[in-house]
Amino acid sequence: MGFSTLVLAAGAGTRMKSHKPKVAHEILGKPLLRWVVDAAREAGTDEVFVVLGEGRETVAPLVPDATLVYQGEQLGTGHAVLMAQSALEAAGVETLVVVSGDTPLLQPPTIASLVAAHQADGAAVSLLSMHVADPTGYGRVLRDAAGAVCRIVEQKDATGAELTVDEVNSGLYCFRTARLFALLAGLRNDNHQHEYYLTDVVALALAAGEGVMARLAADTAELAGINNRVQLAEATATAQRRINTQHMLNGVTILDPATAWIGPDVVLASDVEILPLTSLTGKTSIGWGSVIGPMSRVNNSRIAESCVVDDSVLVDVILEDRVSVGPRAYLRPGTVMREGSHAGTHVEIKKSEIGPHSKVPHLSYIGDAVLGSEVNIGAGSITCNFDGREKHATIIGSRSFVGSDTMFVAPVTMGEDAATGAGSVITDAIPDGTLAIARAEQKNGRSWTRKGKE
Ligand code: UD1
Ligand code: MG
Repeated sequence: MGFSTLVLAAGAGTRMKSHKPKVAHEILGKPLLRWVVDAAREAGTDEVFVVLGEGRETVAPLVPDATLVYQGEQLGTGHAVLMAQSALEAAGVETLVVVSGDTPLLQPPTIASLVAAHQADGAAVSLLSMHVADPTGYGRVLRDAAGAVCRIVEQKDATGAELTVDEVNSGLYCFRTARLFALLAGLRNDNHQHEYYLTDVVALALAAGEGVMARLAADTAELAGINNRVQLAEATATAQRRINTQHMLNGVTILDPATAWIGPDVVLASDVEILPLTSLTGKTSIGWGSVIGPMSRVNNSRIAESCVVDDSVLVDVILEDRVSVGPRAYLRPGTVMREGSHAGTHVEIKKSEIGPHSKVPHLSYIGDAVLGSEVNIGAGSITCNFDGREKHATIIGSRSFVGSDTMFVAPVTMGEDAATGAGSVITDAIPDGTLAIARAEQKNGRSWTRKGKE
């Protein structure tokens, strides 16, 4: 039987002390909310509903695949669920998973198994609880002498004795939707925070003679809620360890896992080597035998086989097989490096195609350019692509040899098998097989001796 998921993400996240809504903060390049929605998707949810409030213009674009519900005033988690009532009823949702947008480490099987247990049990309310070393901040799960759950008490409402309880509410629930809303009608806010707590639904269900099931989670780290920046860093470290371990078991060498930051959507082939202080984020993929790092940052890039990226930054880039980059290159969006090409030291390339086996070895800027195959760009050469208003293209034909410190004043074209003299400022097209020299001619003057050496 299917289920839908409601993610609560309207809170401001006051404890983050941020201008940015809490669920938009990122772990390994992916927003907290996105981690939760992706986990629900992987667990097989039908529809995803997200309750938004504070900073919704920032949060909404993160979840284009969800039905959005707006909570104008953040009156508590129970109130947030009530805001989704009509959308959920209109969609005919029978089984509903509710999860906080601030539990990014939640794993798909944990959601799926809570749903399965809930459906087998027939309870109206099911929740996942956990034993934690430090329960501070969480709602405590209170049980009676026989061990049955009787209610959840929030940190701020708990007595001294209740605060010592180390079984806490994870914030992951499964409900029979119709029963949930019948119970929520009785929700009150006579508590310390004057909020409508979703957690009160446990006591309400029991009072109404409904079944409540509290399952203990096996892994507590995955249910850690992020409320402040310390917890954000801890969760990042957990996610990092989890992801790196999986890659290493899949045949990736990670020399120093503590300083390799690999995003959840990165795909690495076997025999890839990740050297220290390297971060790979977004939709990045790296093919067999490529070596990335040390000190490299790669975002949303496709790197093929046997490439080397040393101490460089790549954003929205494609590298074909056997490309080498760096040390200290900056490849910007739209750069395509064809097979066997090279971008060397202090080289910046933007929105350009570097043809097969072409080389840009030292101190160059290549922007809005297309280089054919086996081109050699001399040190310090630059495409002057911007006239102050618009960007213009530079085309350089195959096997051409560009002398050091050549300026290409775009738009401009260099033919095939052509050459430029060092220091040339190229403003006109260069035909195939031609050497262009565009610089002041050298004049040797009178004889000269260094002072004091006469
Ligand atoms: C909540 C639970 C607590 C549990 C903990 C697990 C309640 C009352 N408490 O506490 O029992 O142990 O999560 O992490 O539910 N939100 C809204 N609208 C609101 C208030 C909150 O959408 O009006 C959202 C927040 O954006 C957040 C989630 O609900 O994603 C939980 O809110 P938060 O303030 O973090 O609750 P906790 O104090 O962590
Ligand atoms: Mg929380």
